[in-house]
Amino acid sequence: MSAQATDRAAWHTDYADPTSALSRRLGVVRDQIRRALPFRLRRPFRVLSLCAGRGDDLIGALSSYAQADLVQARLIELDQRNIRAMSRSACAARLALEIVQADAGDPTLYQGAAPADLCCCAACSATSPTPTRTPP
Ligand SMILES: C[S@@+](CC[C@H](N)C(=O)[O-])C[C@H]1O[C@@H](n2cnc3c(N)ncnc32)[C@H](O)[C@@H]1O
Repeated sequence: MSAQATDRAAWHTDYADPTSALSRRLGVVRDQIRRALPFRLRRPFRVLSLCAGRGDDLIGALSSYAQADLVQARLIELDQRNIRAMSRSACAARLALEIVQADAGDPTLYQGAAPADLCCCAACSATSPTPTRTPP
């Protein structure tokens, strides 16, 4: 997200146009997530998504994943409008995701989700005053 684009909900508007550059990027990210998902899962697969927006990337990838019920995903996002949209999408896709409205720069929020098998992080603008470490 650029310094000028402060509306965190409006940032997602271009996803409505499947030909937009942002939608093409989304397709690439979803493909990468699909590749990271094991063909067969024998244990829960932990995903941590920071600055998750509306969860379009992860929810899109999981929607076609046969073992999505074994994926334990925590998605952290600041903006309440995005949180609402993400909750609706997760519900429509019948995915049980852990959606947290908070500052993803706070590493205490990763407890129980880290170490993760997959971490998605797109364009954070963390509000924490100092850089922080992801706990093991
Ligand atoms: C560029 S958008 C990307 C959204 C999503 N990852 C995607 O690719 O569709 C960045 C998102 O990060 C969120 N965000 C920015 N700073 C944040 C922070 N400190 N903690 C949590 N979310 C944050 C914004 O609200 C916005 O939804």
